[in-house]
Amino acid sequence: MTAPGSRQHAQHPFLDGKTKRLLIDGKWLEAASGKTFDSINPATGEVLAQVAEGDAEDIDRAVEAARRAFEGPWGKVKPFERQAILLRFADLVEQHADEITELDTLDMGAPVQRTRGMKRRAIGLLRYYAGMATALHGETIENSLPGEVFSYTLKEPVGVVGAIIPWNAPLSSSLWKIGPALATGCTVILKPAEEAPLTPLLLGQLALEAGVPPGVLNVVPGFGETAGAALARHMGVDKIAFTGSHVTGQKIVQASAGNLKRLSLELGGKSPDIVFADADLDAAVPGAGMATFLNSGQICSAGTRLFVERRIYDEFVGRVADFGRNLRVGNGLDPDVTIGPLVSREQFDRVSSYLAIGRQEGARPVTGGERLTDGDLANGYFVAPTVFADVRDDMRIAQEEIFGPVISAIPFTDIDEVLSRANNTMFGLGSGVWTRDVSKAHRLAKGIRAGSVWINCYQAMDPAVPFGGYKMSGYGRESGIQHLEEYLNVKAVWIKTD
Ligand code: NAI
Ligand code: MG
Repeated sequence: MTAPGSRQHAQHPFLDGKTKRLLIDGKWLEAASGKTFDSINPATGEVLAQVAEGDAEDIDRAVEAARRAFEGPWGKVKPFERQAILLRFADLVEQHADEITELDTLDMGAPVQRTRGMKRRAIGLLRYYAGMATALHGETIENSLPGEVFSYTLKEPVGVVGAIIPWNAPLSSSLWKIGPALATGCTVILKPAEEAPLTPLLLGQLALEAGVPPGVLNVVPGFGETAGAALARHMGVDKIAFTGSHVTGQKIVQASAGNLKRLSLELGGKSPDIVFADADLDAAVPGAGMATFLNSGQICSAGTRLFVERRIYDEFVGRVADFGRNLRVGNGLDPDVTIGPLVSREQFDRVSSYLAIGRQEGARPVTGGERLTDGDLANGYFVAPTVFADVRDDMRIAQEEIFGPVISAIPFTDIDEVLSRANNTMFGLGSGVWTRDVSKAHRLAKGIRAGSVWINCYQAMDPAVPFGGYKMSGYGRESGIQHLEEYLNVKAVWIKTD
């Protein structure tokens, strides 16, 4: 056992004991301030690496490099070549997949069962964007002006993009920003989350190896209030692509006002997952369980408000609780573990406070509800998969994003009632419906105010299918053709030819 904060290195080729530096203009640099911070394994409390702590000065350097690259050689690189770079990058990610996914496990705790499963998604994203690089085009548009005036549109990269990502899926979050930026010809400053900066740095290394030119991809770890805020307000940045909490999203909107930079915001959720009595319950039990327990509940679109038709409520909630109780929780390096720790002490405290709030509000924990401290678990931030029953819509645990393995189970009687209650949230990111009745499925698919509706499944994702929020879950879409549009400007060109 290792005491939290002690100095020790996990066995991993990237963890060589050296300070991890910032990637700016194709070079690995110390922070201008000389400061570093620790990256910690949340399963054990051990320090994995010291990381250079970027702040406003480093962001300035990175933005200058990104601007120079954008206005210089990168602007002349043809789509074919951007595609080739993305494909080489994808090949390298594929070759190094074990190393990358294990680094995610070490740095943010998700079990290898999950992170290894992300390999396909990661490579799929890069190859999708590679394909799109040669598929971008404007339009010729017939206008009705008198005389001979020809009009067409150009699609142009927005320019220098600041990408600010959270810690819950460092590999795919990084590629979800880098991919569209490279495909469209933008340049990027990637600001990883302070809780999990290592995979983004390793990806920076592989991107250089793939031939991404200096300044096109910069990786500047640091804290939100310093590095993140400096990027969000920077007058030299044309767009921020942000994933994270709605509170930080609101700060980014304010910070963006200085130069009215473009924004895409993928924020939090409190997604409804609705189970009808006519559903295939053998599929719905693990489906509804993993809709929340996956990644220890640290997924923006987790189906945390579990609405269950009243006549099966007790039975179904009991079965989901049994399912949660039987999940193996532990250090994610163990291939038999399904549920890892929460990412940090801070997140652990936040989730623990909601467990107390749920009890105070009168919700009944059917399973879980506490920290796990058996043996080695005592050194990490482990919370048992939890199901609260007897939850009312007005409880905080039914309204606020917990970002932990906590299901709030709520009974309902009919479809109109559950639809209006499902929409009774400030968020609108994901949603689930379990039924064998097609008309119910279609009515809810249309009626739910959220960016994704999963029917008889949950959390399905694909690089070609758009993902994003309604209401306070943000705006803009990631994946799909819509995603590329977020990184492009449209220019109208008029030519008088008579
Ligand atoms: P956060 O939204 O504060 O952090 C996400 C990213 O934003 C990090 O890279 C952080 O450094 C950066 N950041 C923080 N403050 C910033 C600022 N003022 N300007 C620019 N960038 C800033 O989320 P945090 O604190 O890690 O988690 C808090 C809660 O947010 C969680 O409990 C969860 O409810 C929610 N969350 C939602 C996520 C999602 O995917 N929707 C991801 C992470 C957190
Ligand atoms: Mg924060």
